[in-house]
Amino acid sequence: MPSAEDTLSRFLAGLCERLRSQPQRGAVADYIPGLARVDPSQFAISVCLANGQRFDLGDCDVPFSIQSVSKIFMLAIALGRVGDQLWARVGREPSNRAFNSLVDLEFEGGIPRNPFVNAGALVTTDVLLAGHSPKEAIAEVLRFVRAAAMDDGIFVNPDVARSESETAHRNRALAHFLASYGNLHRSSDLVLGTYFHSCAIEMTSKQLANSGRFLAGLHSTFDAIGSNHVRSINALMLLAGHYNGSGEFAHRVGFPAKSGVGGGILAIVPGKASIAVWSPGLNQFGNSLLGTLALEELSQFTGWSLFNANGAS
Ligand code: DON
Repeated sequence: MPSAEDTLSRFLAGLCERLRSQPQRGAVADYIPGLARVDPSQFAISVCLANGQRFDLGDCDVPFSIQSVSKIFMLAIALGRVGDQLWARVGREPSNRAFNSLVDLEFEGGIPRNPFVNAGALVTTDVLLAGHSPKEAIAEVLRFVRAAAMDDGIFVNPDVARSESETAHRNRALAHFLASYGNLHRSSDLVLGTYFHSCAIEMTSKQLANSGRFLAGLHSTFDAIGSNHVRSINALMLLAGHYNGSGEFAHRVGFPAKSGVGGGILAIVPGKASIAVWSPGLNQFGNSLLGTLALEELSQFTGWSLFNANGAS
């Protein structure tokens, strides 16, 4: 009789083959010129399980721009620095608007809805810059990610950071708007430069799945943040990890996950798995089209949705 791992391995191989040849792949982000050149035919999935087993399929050795997935790591470091004081400057509620919308910020008096919309990530970046230069802050993000992934081969792509900086009219508007409410303590140029570099970190799906193990409780030696903060991050990933597509994602997949416009998604099944998927084409919310589909099928196959009435179905 095949083991549960053999069955999962066969399922993932079939899933990968189907999605690699799927004609409808979504649209690659082109508002950051450095991302518009990425080949949309790529697909990767990596799964780390609680028993130490792992599965890596497709283009799992190709580094991609993690973009907004880096907001998880910035949030983790900011919570480690200032703890719950962070919530005085950024909310922890979902938003029904796009990740780069200006509207909520005015309605909420300069307090971003959550740390995953761009405005919120600019505030966590500002926290990282308290008493630190941009170079030190980026080095700290890299240190954190490398320690979480147990992998020193993770770097920033400076060309992607520069290309975002050249076209970042929206993010500049958001930063100035935050500053006008007194919710940026460093200059908006310093905050934006640090934020673009953090978004321009590149990882493979293998590295990204490894880096998420601390959120799933699967990393025995990494204790950079407390369990209360791990809970907050997972809750926020569920409520806001896919922006105004988060409700749809919760229905279809049913566990915490954070997307990036590079087409990567880091998904966490608490106590069970850390999963990274990557496919560069995006849906209408700016989240990976095939990455979401892969997680939906994986969730149905494993019964890992947190909303199953009788535990795993
Ligand atoms: O600030 C931006 O627009 C990008 N650096 C990150 C946006 C992003 O990844 C949204 N996620 N799906």
